[in-house]
Amino acid sequence: MRVLYSYVRQQWRAFAVTFVIASIARLLMLVDPQILRLIIDRYVLKVGTMPREQFYRGVLILIGASVAIGMLARLFRTMQEYEIELISRRVGARLYAKSIAHSLLLPFREYETKRSGEMLQIIQRARLDAESGISGAVRLYLGFVAVAAVTIYAFTLHPLLGFMHLIGLPLIGILMLVISVPIRKRQRRIAIDTASLTGSVTEAIRNVETLKSLGAETQEIGRLHDINNSILGLETEKLRLIRRFTFLESMLFHATRTAFLAAEVWLVYNHGITTGEFLSLFLYTSIIFAPLTEAGAAVARYQEARASFDTLDTVLDLPKEERGGGEGFEPITNIRFDGVTLSYAAAHGDALRDISVELPAGRTIAFTGPSGAGKSSLVKLLVALYTPNEGALLVNGRDLREIDLDAYRARIGLVTQETQLFAGTLRANLQFSRPDASDAECLVALEQAAASVLLERGHEGLDALIGEGGLKLSGGERQRIAIARALLRDPDVLVFDEPTSSLDAMTERAVTETIRSLSTSRRLTILVTHRLSTITHADCIHVLRGGMVEESGTSEELLANGGLFAQLWHEQMGT
Ligand SMILES: Nc1ncnc2c1ncn2[C@@H]1O[C@H](COP(=O)(O)OP(=O)(O)OP(=O)(O)O)[C@@H](O)[C@H]1O
Ligand SMILES: [Mg+2]
Repeated sequence: MRVLYSYVRQQWRAFAVTFVIASIARLLMLVDPQILRLIIDRYVLKVGTMPREQFYRGVLILIGASVAIGMLARLFRTMQEYEIELISRRVGARLYAKSIAHSLLLPFREYETKRSGEMLQIIQRARLDAESGISGAVRLYLGFVAVAAVTIYAFTLHPLLGFMHLIGLPLIGILMLVISVPIRKRQRRIAIDTASLTGSVTEAIRNVETLKSLGAETQEIGRLHDINNSILGLETEKLRLIRRFTFLESMLFHATRTAFLAAEVWLVYNHGITTGEFLSLFLYTSIIFAPLTEAGAAVARYQEARASFDTLDTVLDLPKEERGGGEGFEPITNIRFDGVTLSYAAAHGDALRDISVELPAGRTIAFTGPSGAGKSSLVKLLVALYTPNEGALLVNGRDLREIDLDAYRARIGLVTQETQLFAGTLRANLQFSRPDASDAECLVALEQAAASVLLERGHEGLDALIGEGGLKLSGGERQRIAIARALLRDPDVLVFDEPTSSLDAMTERAVTETIRSLSTSRRLTILVTHRLSTITHADCIHVLRGGMVEESGTSEELLANGGLFAQLWHEQMGT
């Protein structure tokens, strides 16, 4: 709830205006029964005692006043509704923007255990609940204004009536708040389960290709049905609670109303109050009970909103990624892994253990080793997706934790093992890494990545559309676009994680040539691959096994050593 309160506080001026307008509207509505009281007490009950002319004039003036005040009340009410809508939408939109920004700024580690759809559902739900919660709060306040005004009026008529209003109505309010607590508990479970369902559905739709090709749709549909059914069960339970709540609430109101009516009739009989006053009180009871019922609904909604904000807090309370301080970062001349150990939260044992390697600019350094050896993990450390559990990454001699991450990452061009492209044009996908890149620069990058063939396919050139996740491209084509994307930055450090894994032998050679030609005297090139033939030119090759560096050297040295590298080499070359 804290987040919501802080946004509400930011809008306090608008709130103050709304409350004033709403109070005026509500008070104006309370004037009508007073006019009726005057008509009855001064005219209707005195029909025989005054001239006809005086009677009509008096009554007409009062009716005219009633019409005028009624119109004014409607006017204020319209303004009030508009203001409430405006504020709640505004708060909702800001909350949404903040939550989305926060979730994107979370450390990558958090995404290990969360699904993207799940996070989105939590945020969207909170937005809707913030909007309905705010209008609920205003209505609650209006109920309070009406009750307070009527209580004061009741006191002016008779102390007994005053005390009945003063004690009876707040008591009902507190009672309702207490009996609505179980609703919140159900709602919280529903929020969590729905978020998880949305996560599963998003995942299923994203991976529909895999699902279909495995023939696993029916099975997946069944699984989603089960989750959905359990949520429906909770919803039903909640609905039952809400119905019980509203039933109890209406019973309470009815009982109170009857008690009030009894007291009022008794007072009329004993000449405590006039007939007009009796009638106005009777009308007031209906008038305040209508907003009180609304208030009852508002309490139920408030409990729902609190539940979804508690869930949102579980996201917003996660600390953001530490981004280091400071301004831009100087060109990278050296990266050093200093006794680095990395373990994933979801895994037992270390993915990398005590890695110490030197990566100087102007060199090509390769990492190879069996599957699962920790090569990609090393790359993730390099781009600071993870921070080491032990040891440190030193960039130009400074600990990476103290460096501004955006500035650092801007100097790195990364081609990951699994290429992700975004829905949109080829140009948009390239410019992702450098929004100010010109068409000419994009074309050069594509050329360098041996990807210009893609341009020849259609007539659209850089405007060619690529599906979500790059669906309309082959694996190799996607990989080459990723390479072009990395090159477009003209980075200090180029990192390739299996850059040629989906390419045919000929294209592989072309890309390897490209990579080789891209290594300049100032650039650090890091190659991670199984394909030993593509790294023979590296200045140094580190062979990883089980998260540790087993051997290092040039390909000649390693072959001569006859260790793991030599073994892998002979197997690959069939020698
Ligand atoms: N997010 C993660 N959570 C838990 N364990 C992980 C995670 N990512 C990787 N691992 C584990 O860490 C180890 C190293 O994985 P990594 O991806 O670095 O291997 P790799 O050398 O790149 O393998 P490959 O050649 O198959 O790409 C593996 O045992 C893997 O199961
Ligand atoms: Mg890998």
